[in-house]
Amino acid sequence: MTNKAGSGPDTGGVTGGKAEGWAEEAWRRSLVKTKVNARRIGANFPHASQGGTYTLEPPHWWTAGFWPGMLWLLCEGGGEAELREVAEACEARLDEVLDGYDKLDHDLGFMWILTSVANYKLTGSEQSRRRAFKAANYLMGRFNLQGGYLRAWNPWHEGEDNAGIAIIDCAMNVNLLYWASRESGDPRYRHVAEAHMRTVLAHFIRPDGSVRHIVRFDPETGAVAEYLGGQGYAPESAWSRGAAWALYGLALACHHTGRAEYADAAKRVAHFFLAQLPEDRVPHWDFRAPAETRHLRDSSAGACAASGLLLLDSLLPAAERGAYREAGERMLESLYAGYGSFDDPDEQGLILRGTSHYPERKNLDVPLIYGDYFFIEGLARLRGADMIPWE
Ligand code: GLY
Repeated sequence: MTNKAGSGPDTGGVTGGKAEGWAEEAWRRSLVKTKVNARRIGANFPHASQGGTYTLEPPHWWTAGFWPGMLWLLCEGGGEAELREVAEACEARLDEVLDGYDKLDHDLGFMWILTSVANYKLTGSEQSRRRAFKAANYLMGRFNLQGGYLRAWNPWHEGEDNAGIAIIDCAMNVNLLYWASRESGDPRYRHVAEAHMRTVLAHFIRPDGSVRHIVRFDPETGAVAEYLGGQGYAPESAWSRGAAWALYGLALACHHTGRAEYADAAKRVAHFFLAQLPEDRVPHWDFRAPAETRHLRDSSAGACAASGLLLLDSLLPAAERGAYREAGERMLESLYAGYGSFDDPDEQGLILRGTSHYPERKNLDVPLIYGDYFFIEGLARLRGADMIPWE
């Protein structure tokens, strides 16, 4: 376990000096609040905060990794045993999903990168390494060779055929395969990740840098059958969290492979994303949503994109560096100053105003656990963290 700073329950374990003052303050206050939350939430799987309290999901829900993931990130800053114990207990609870198999879909990456891979990287746990490989092998099994994509979901109801569905969120899940390839020395995992990411470049990223959520392929021939709006407003709109998944996923693909085509596409998405932001730099839930829904922001998209921008900046040649980092940092600062709940002890969520699923009218204008996670991850990057799970 890396222990980079002194600890103490009231200081949040921060000795300061690594990032701008506001970021150190945000980290300290996040740690204090998360310690309180750890006692309230325990080894459970929070998703959206309603009326100040996080609602809990079953362990197979795609968001199960974010709470333990943010605990691991905060542990790294101070070796906080109480947070680590909760993170480990969450990971152990996920065994019933991994061993049960039936409820697994492409979100194996979100779930086991932020639990088992993070644990293994920080502690060297062999059990966590085995869990992560098991998850990676299941993800490999979702690859459709004809279409060059990882299948997203299983049927949501009896008789539904979604064998041809691929979604942009999976640009984050493929990082489990990049990890498995590097860890095992077996290039097969990377080949599958690369094939999926080539499909992302070809079919999800539009020339203007906006991003599709869902592409349906013919699972027999691999031909594109149709584009679907998914969690965005419409098939040709621009769901902001989907853009964030793409921006960050492409930057990570560049990090893992060194291929410039991923950085170029990440920059294209970043330019579109940044150009659409309102004055306070926190995105609307869909950049092309009609005026009557534009009061809804998605702070989680902002937090995820910000962490991706910080990584992207670090991958670029020196002459291109600076602007993406500055943009990411200012987005995080705006989330802290304008959207943080740090003065409200009755609100468990850290960052207000996320939008989980507008088309289904679910979890609108509320804190979301992945918004909290990416906010913490962005701060960890600003503070020079040694361990970022996706990398
Ligand atoms: N489908 C995952 C998300 O809400 O971004």
